[in-house]
Amino acid sequence: MICSCELIKEKMGWLMMGYQLVCLQILLLLSLSSANLCSHGQISALLHFKQLFSFGPAFHDAYCDIKGTPSYPKMENWKEDIDCCSWDGITCDTVTGHVIGLDLSCSRLHGSIPANSSLFLLSHLQNHNLAFNDFNFSQIPSNFVRFPSLTHLNLSASNFSSQVPFEISHLSKLISLDFSSNDLTLETLVMKELVQNMTKLEQLVFDFVNMSTVVPDYLTNISSSMMLLSLSECGLQGSFPENIFRLPNLHTLELSWNYNLRSTFPKVNWSNPLTYLDVSNTQLSGELPHSIGNLNSLSSLYMKRCNFIGSIPASIGNHTKLSYLDLSYNSFSGLIPSSLSKLEQLTVLDFSKNNFNGEIPDIFINLTQLSSLALSSNSLSGSIPSGVHGLRNLASIYLDGNLLDGTIPSWLFSLPSLEKLNLNDNQLSGHLDEFQNNSLQEIKLSNNRLHGSIPSSIFELLNLTYLDLSSNNLSGAVELYKSAKIMNLEVLRLSYNNLSTITKNNVNSSFPKLFWLDLSSCSINEFPEILLTADNLQRLDLSNNEIHGHVPNRLFNISTLFFLNLSHNFLTGIEGLPWQVIWYIDIHSNLLQGQLPAPPPQLRFLSVSHNRLTGLPIPSSFCNLSSIEYLDLSSNSLYGKVPQCLGNSMSISVLDLKTNNFHGSIPQTFANGSRLMTLNLNGNSLEGSLPLSLVNCGNLEVLDVGNNMINDSFPHWLATLPQLQVLILRSNRFYGPLGNSKTRLPFSRLRILDLSHNGFTGPLQTRFFENLPAMMSRKNTVFKLNIWEMNIIKIL
Ligand SMILES: *[C@@H]1O[C@H](CO)[C@@H](O)[C@H](O)[C@H]1NC(C)=O
Ligand SMILES: *[C@@H]1O[C@H](CO)[C@@H](O)[C@H](O)[C@H]1NC(C)=O
Ligand SMILES: *[C@@H]1O[C@H](CO)[C@@H](O)[C@H](O)[C@H]1NC(C)=O
Ligand SMILES: *[C@@H]1O[C@H](CO)[C@@H](O)[C@H](O)[C@H]1NC(C)=O
Ligand SMILES: *[C@@H]1O[C@H](CO)[C@@H](O)[C@H](O)[C@H]1NC(C)=O
Ligand SMILES: *[C@@H]1O[C@H](CO)[C@@H](O)[C@H](O)[C@H]1NC(C)=O
Ligand SMILES: *[C@@H]1O[C@H](CO)[C@@H](O)[C@H](O)[C@H]1NC(C)=O
Ligand SMILES: *[C@@H]1O[C@H](CO)[C@@H](O)[C@H](O)[C@H]1NC(C)=O
Ligand SMILES: *[C@@H]1O[C@H](CO)[C@@H](O)[C@H](O)[C@H]1NC(C)=O
Ligand SMILES: *[C@@H]1O[C@H](CO)[C@@H](O)[C@H](O)[C@H]1NC(C)=O
Ligand SMILES: *[C@@H]1O[C@H](CO)[C@@H](O)[C@H](O)[C@H]1NC(C)=O
Ligand SMILES: *[C@@H]1O[C@H](CO)[C@@H](O)[C@H](O)[C@H]1NC(C)=O
Repeated sequence: MICSCELIKEKMGWLMMGYQLVCLQILLLLSLSSANLCSHGQISALLHFKQLFSFGPAFHDAYCDIKGTPSYPKMENWKEDIDCCSWDGITCDTVTGHVIGLDLSCSRLHGSIPANSSLFLLSHLQNHNLAFNDFNFSQIPSNFVRFPSLTHLNLSASNFSSQVPFEISHLSKLISLDFSSNDLTLETLVMKELVQNMTKLEQLVFDFVNMSTVVPDYLTNISSSMMLLSLSECGLQGSFPENIFRLPNLHTLELSWNYNLRSTFPKVNWSNPLTYLDVSNTQLSGELPHSIGNLNSLSSLYMKRCNFIGSIPASIGNHTKLSYLDLSYNSFSGLIPSSLSKLEQLTVLDFSKNNFNGEIPDIFINLTQLSSLALSSNSLSGSIPSGVHGLRNLASIYLDGNLLDGTIPSWLFSLPSLEKLNLNDNQLSGHLDEFQNNSLQEIKLSNNRLHGSIPSSIFELLNLTYLDLSSNNLSGAVELYKSAKIMNLEVLRLSYNNLSTITKNNVNSSFPKLFWLDLSSCSINEFPEILLTADNLQRLDLSNNEIHGHVPNRLFNISTLFFLNLSHNFLTGIEGLPWQVIWYIDIHSNLLQGQLPAPPPQLRFLSVSHNRLTGLPIPSSFCNLSSIEYLDLSSNSLYGKVPQCLGNSMSISVLDLKTNNFHGSIPQTFANGSRLMTLNLNGNSLEGSLPLSLVNCGNLEVLDVGNNMINDSFPHWLATLPQLQVLILRSNRFYGPLGNSKTRLPFSRLRILDLSHNGFTGPLQTRFFENLPAMMSRKNTVFKLNIWEMNIIKIL
């Protein structure tokens, strides 16, 4: 405290008389209050409080930096010999010297606050911030109630846990309360009291506080001073009171990620100051009322993944300050309103995954700030509006999954800021121009009607990570190695065109980041050399090509591979299936010879059908396939017995062994709870009876054991399988009657039944057909069929 009598003399110059006395008196006053500035009691309380903590690792440094409040241990320079009012984080009342503010946010505190902590001696505290520290999952001390003057309390992101203490609701002077991002639960009673008591509350931030038992109705009477209400991801459920949208001072309302929260928007009297409204990922429903147009301060409106319906009111054009507009994943319908053209501040427009139809209006001339345009997955038709041409800030265009037609505009290839372009799944025609700008990262044009050749400039795009041109009518040669520049390429998909792909490496190119390569139907006749350097490849589709010979070793070296499709080629050999993480292997329709290779245990899908595999049928390693869902070994020349373990599998849903040379009996034990849906053993030499344990396969839809040598009576017990639709027993040695007149056969879903070429005898009872409701609709028709004449009965 600096005081000079000269200063006082100047200020009090008019007081000539008794000047010395006055000055002395003032000095005395000042020195007294200076001594009071920080009492010993407060210093000692604070220093004791300090002792509770260690200043450990800096959990929140990055976050605090972003917020502009760098993280450092503020308490470290708290020293006894310095006036505590000048300590970091402390604010004192200038008159009384009481500590009224304690801001220890971003201070790297690690420890907890016990109920008897000296902190609670600072009874004049008004503003207390402990955000972004680590309180070691301790409870919020109920003693905060010892601060009756508290107006601001902030415990955000500080590893507090368990219940918010009831006593907190007594802090009736609170203006701002932030408990967000802890591991806290709030009871409904506390919420009720809090709403009643805190009549001055302007900010309530409870994001991530578990409020799943709070009845949202209690929020109805929340302070009308409320300006900021943030309740993201609180597990709130039930009906959210509509009047909150009408609070007269509310400018920010955040309700996102409360999946079970219901409500509708008010028709009238919206909170006028509202600038930010986020109800994404809730059950909010109903229409967007016309009155939303009255919110002339609105700058962000997020309504993603709710249940909204109806058309967008033209009044949306009133929000001239709107910058973010996300209505994606709802059921909005009708035309896209042309009044959007007035939203000159708009940077993000997302109407994806709705039912909008009609043409995209050319609203873009004045939307010069627009950086992201997303209208994916609607039913929009017509062409891409030319106004997009002028958007110099446009970084992403998502118009995929619509009915857009016309030729692809050539200016798309020279938009100055464009990074992401997705026009997949439309009906665009025309050819691809040379790309003018290098900023492109993603080009997705698959499933259109594009023709012509792929411009070579595509391979000059330095920042390109994703290129999908599959399912078009592009033609000509693609020289994958023309340029070694696209080092960042992660996904390359050129399948289903009329391309001829040149796969030879003639420059030193490498694709270290490539993880997805689809070159199906690309007229490739050898394994591309691109695989030599694709060390991170995860998905590889080379199906429908003309690749001959053995699968090369270099493919085996790619340890990251999890999806491999080599079907429909002319491959003659594969030495093994050695990949460690692979779960999908399709090599069907090749010329593979020799033994079936042992599969890796984590496999979920394997098809090697239509090859020339011979030898002992199924290596015992197939019994280790604990996750196998789809196993198709059909149309080979495998022989031997079908391993019992395939019946026991709890994961398999499709087992197809048809057209091989298997003999012996069908596996006898199908496990209870089996997921089997299709069992096809047609065209082998299997003997014995049908295993009774097939009744355990409650999901079975198709059972085909035709063309074997099975010797059994009619399996009436299969009638209880609720999903069975196809039952083929033809050309076996089944015998005896199909069931007597008393048996009811509730084959409730059966559509195809083939019993021909067996030894069934006796009359076929009407009753039998009466109980095949899916097959027969005519009742009271007398059937007396000779079983020998019986053929496929097929009614769809
Ligand atoms: C954090 O809590 C654990 C268990 O509750 C305790 O063992 C540990 O000492 C505490 N650490 C600090 C710094 O308080
Ligand atoms: C708080 O209570 C604990 C025991 O519960 C005791 O060890 C500690 O000394 C007390 N601290 C103060 C400041 O009274
Ligand atoms: C909470 O504590 C854990 C370790 O106990 C730490 O990794 C994490 O960063 C802490 N979180 C916060 C929000 O301080
Ligand atoms: C709480 O404190 C943190 C860190 O200083 C800050 O980012 C946040 O905005 C504060 N909360 C409120 C409601 O002011
Ligand atoms: C706050 O709530 C408590 C507990 O219900 C009650 O005793 C107290 O009177 C309330 N205070 C005010 C100012 O409403
Ligand atoms: C929230 O609390 C409820 C009841 O106390 C509990 O069942 C639920 O698992 C909690 N939710 C989360 C996400 O922790
Ligand atoms: C809100 O306040 C009114 C009037 O004070 C009262 O009648 C009503 O019961 C309160 N509603 C809730 C949900 O607390
Ligand atoms: C809307 O505000 C007007 C004027 O303040 C008032 O008369 C009317 O009752 C309010 N309507 C609703 C539904 O709150
Ligand atoms: C909002 O838009 C509607 C129709 O577009 C218009 O009639 C109304 O006057 C506008 N309201 C304001 C406040 O601008
Ligand atoms: C992008 O292409 C346009 C048109 O060719 C050109 O005028 C502009 O300078 C290019 N911008 C960049 C960053 O390359
Ligand atoms: C390519 O990406 C880098 C890093 O993101 C960026 O600095 C550079 O400007 C981009 N190049 C072009 C031509 O956009
Ligand atoms: C694809 O292009 C070829 C010529 O390259 C043409 O003959 C054929 O008709 C086109 N197919 C379609 C469906 O447009």
